[in-house]
Amino acid sequence: MDSLFLHPDRNLGMELVRATEAAAIRAVPYIGRGDKNRADGAAVDAMRKFLGTVSFDGVVVIGEGEKDNAPMLYNGEHVGTGSGPSCDIAVDPIDGTSLTAAGRQNALSMIAVADRGSMYDPSAVFYMDKIVAGHEAHGVVDLARPIGENIRALAKAKNKDVADMVVAVLDRPRHAQLVADIRAAGAGTRMLLDGDVAGGINAAMYGTRIDMCVGTGGTPEGIITACALKALGGFIQGRLQPKDDDEAQRAIAAGHDLDRILTIDNLVTSDNTYFVATGVTDGQLVDGVRKRGPVIHTESIVLRGRSGTIRRVGADHLAEKWV
Ligand code: FBP
Repeated sequence: MDSLFLHPDRNLGMELVRATEAAAIRAVPYIGRGDKNRADGAAVDAMRKFLGTVSFDGVVVIGEGEKDNAPMLYNGEHVGTGSGPSCDIAVDPIDGTSLTAAGRQNALSMIAVADRGSMYDPSAVFYMDKIVAGHEAHGVVDLARPIGENIRALAKAKNKDVADMVVAVLDRPRHAQLVADIRAAGAGTRMLLDGDVAGGINAAMYGTRIDMCVGTGGTPEGIITACALKALGGFIQGRLQPKDDDEAQRAIAAGHDLDRILTIDNLVTSDNTYFVATGVTDGQLVDGVRKRGPVIHTESIVLRGRSGTIRRVGADHLAEKWV
């Protein structure tokens, strides 16, 4: 039996959150300074240092940065002390590097962890079509169906009028038809500048203003979202969406079925997942880093799949320790 299942029961997320707190704090000097790579670099360095102190044997399955040569916690890198549970780890030191550089809302530092070998390998294709919603969507929503049908079906399951349904979509030219279809169905949109992980979590979490998050976003972000949703009982489906013929041919040669709809359990087979995120800038999920007199205040969220717990962690860090 994996050591994560032995007593005393340990919530690894409560230790991992120190790494996202550190990454968020170190990104602050770069908020609104127009240089997303320096912001990401500061977050990566801080995250790597703190991860090194956590008692686990983590292998980075999802690192961030290949797409634009940003600094990396690279794929295959071992993190943690090397003793303790063997895990896959997905890091996104800043989801919303452009948001951070511009000084916009909704940038988060995040980590997802699951049992070793349980995360889908996202390296074949950069983008994925996704549909994310709350627990009501199980057996009701299907990525293969037109968006209008899905909106009507979810509205019925949630006992809401379609006119009250709100669908989050990344604001990209590729989504023009999707957005038109959502509005034609009678629902409203919330256009996200970036950050479809937070969009997906907001869609799956109880009591938020978002009912569904749809569209094409990063494949790694799909797997990170799946890890978070295990704690929420949420719904996600994804389908690889190659950018061009070359990427499609490489994915097919590597054995991927481009028509296959991937469920939450395909994206992460284990239910023993952790997701932690700390706000860099203010957002719908958590507030960003604040300087309050002698302390730096951080807001984080810690989700644990096995127990289905959502914890909100506020921390005050004595600023003089962070110079
Ligand atoms: P980064 O800040 O890590 O680059 O990602 C932001 C993001 O908006 C993701 O949340 C999303 O999945 C992806 O980029 C979408 O990609 P693109 O910006 O190429 O449309």
